[in-house]
This record gives sequence, C-alpha cells and structure tokens, in this order.
Amino acid sequence: MADQYILTEVEGSVAVLTLNRPDVLNALNIPLMDQLIETMERLDGDPAVRCMVLTGNRKAFAAGADIKEMAEASVVDMYERNNLARWQRIQRVRKPIIAAVSGFCLGGGCELAMHCDMIIAAESAQFGQPEINIGVIPGAGGTQRLSKVVGKYRAMELILTGRFFGAKEAYEMGLATRVVPTEVYLEEAVSLAKEIAERSPMAVRFAKETVLKAFESPLSEGLDYERKMFYMLFGTEDQKEGMKAFMEKRKAEYTGK
Ligand code: CAA
Repeated sequence: MADQYILTEVEGSVAVLTLNRPDVLNALNIPLMDQLIETMERLDGDPAVRCMVLTGNRKAFAAGADIKEMAEASVVDMYERNNLARWQRIQRVRKPIIAAVSGFCLGGGCELAMHCDMIIAAESAQFGQPEINIGVIPGAGGTQRLSKVVGKYRAMELILTGRFFGAKEAYEMGLATRVVPTEVYLEEAVSLAKEIAERSPMAVRFAKETVLKAFESPLSEGLDYERKMFYMLFGTEDQKEGMKAFMEKRKAEYTGK
C-alpha cells in the first residue's frame, strides 16, 4: 500500500485530517499534497461531514514544502510540475476547515494554515515564512495572504527576515483565531468544528464563501454578493426551521436542505 500521508478520522459530522510525515516534520511533498487535496475534495462532497479540522502533531503542523524534493529542480522542472497551482483546489473547498497548529508551522506549512478558515494555535506553535533563508520566497500564497492578514509593514519584516514568531504574536497580528494550551489544541479545534457543524450547513457554506469574497472584491461588490446570498438562504428548509425554532424557543434541527 502507498504511504498514508493523510490520516482521516470522522467524529460525528467533523472530519479530522492529520498530516502524517512525522520524521520530516510533515514536510509537504507532492504525494502528501495530492492525498490531502483528494481527501478534502472527497469530504467536501460527503453530506455526513459538515466541518473539517486539519492538524499535524505536537512537534510540527508542517515545516514547509519538501526542500529535498525541489532542491535540484530547474526553472523548467518547477514550471512543468506547477505543483503549487494545485493548492488552489483547497481554496475551493466549500466546507469550513480549521487548522489546529502546534509546533512548527513554517513556509508552505504556514501557507497551508492560511488556506484554512480558522487557526487554533497551541502555545507551542511557531509560525514563519523562512523561505528567504534558503534563497527563495513563499510560493503558495504567503506574500499575498500574510500581507492581507497582518498588513504590509509586518508582512515585509516577516517575509524579508524569515524570522519565526510564536502563537501570541500570531494572535495579536490577527493570524491565529485563538491561542490555547498545547495539551488541548486539537480538542479545542474539534470542539469549535462541532459547534459550527450544528449550524445550517448551507448557511455555513454561504457564510464562508461570502467572507472569502471580502478578500477578493471591492466593498460594493462584496456587499451586493452578501445581500444575494442572504436572500438565497430563504430557499432552504433550514432557514424556515431556524426562524421557527427561534420563535418556538427551542433548538433548531438542521438537515442541510
Ligand atoms: N523539507 C524537507 N525536510 C525537512 C523540512 C522541509 N521543509 N523541514 C524539516 N525537514 C527534515 C530535516 O531535513 C530532518 O530530516 P533528517 O532527519 O532526515 O535530516 C527532519 O525533518 C528534522 O528536522 P531538523 O533536524 O532540521 O529539526 P530541528 O528541530 O533541528 O529544526 C526546523 C526544525 C527549524 C523546522 C528546521 O527543520 C527547518 O528550518 N526546516 C525548514 C523550514 C523551511 O525553510 N521551510 C520552508 C520550506 S520552502 C517552502 O515552504 C516554499 C513554499 O512557500 C511552498
């Protein structure tokens, strides 16, 4: 059997995906990324799953793209492989993805976390875009996403020096959603995923899509989009159930219809 680089466990309506190359701090080689993308797309199409958690292990979420795999590559090799273009498929996953980060979260690892919708950081988490130290720059969205999250002046310093920064700093800069004790970082992420999974799946997906729109369009376009998505939800049974349950002072039961 091929190496299993992604371990998947489904708990109720939450799927936990674990990056599994512990010997190399979960360095993201091409087979691992292929497995990750295929797994995410499969779970995105599985109606039993409503939210995903992506994690590594205590020592490393991921220490970046696999340096050994690309060290000798030429421009033509890199251009032909075009491996990083595949990551756009993660961006198209419609269900929410929560990154549960402990230990090293560097380079492509940090970029992978930034492809997720929320980042739960253990106190032990170490973030960074250290590509500059090996003669390259971030290639999976780091220059763009980090700048949008932390602003130009902080992103410049982080990307031009490659320095690592801890969970507290990541939280203060708006990169981490929460910082939690290392012992419970995965439980916290799963518990947040379960909370989201109790909401109307259509409303959750529309909410994700509409928030992401804020990063890609002018305000007027985003507001227009939001309004349309809001109106569209009135075509779902879940909207009727949600509002009825409110009026009847009971908990809503959402079916995803
Ligand atoms: N690629 C390949 N292998 C890696 C790796 C990576 N990104 N990061 C760590 N490893 C391997 C090491 O080579 C080592 O393997 P061996 O035992 O076979 O030598 C093993 O993982 C353990 O690593 P270290 O011995 O280096 O562990 P450490 O605790 O001393 O240091 C570290 C940890 C500071 C994270 C260090 O491993 C490191 O600096 N790693 C590279 C970080 C980096 O530069 N990431 C960016 C990669 S480029 C990128 O991601 C491009 C992009 O934007 C897509």
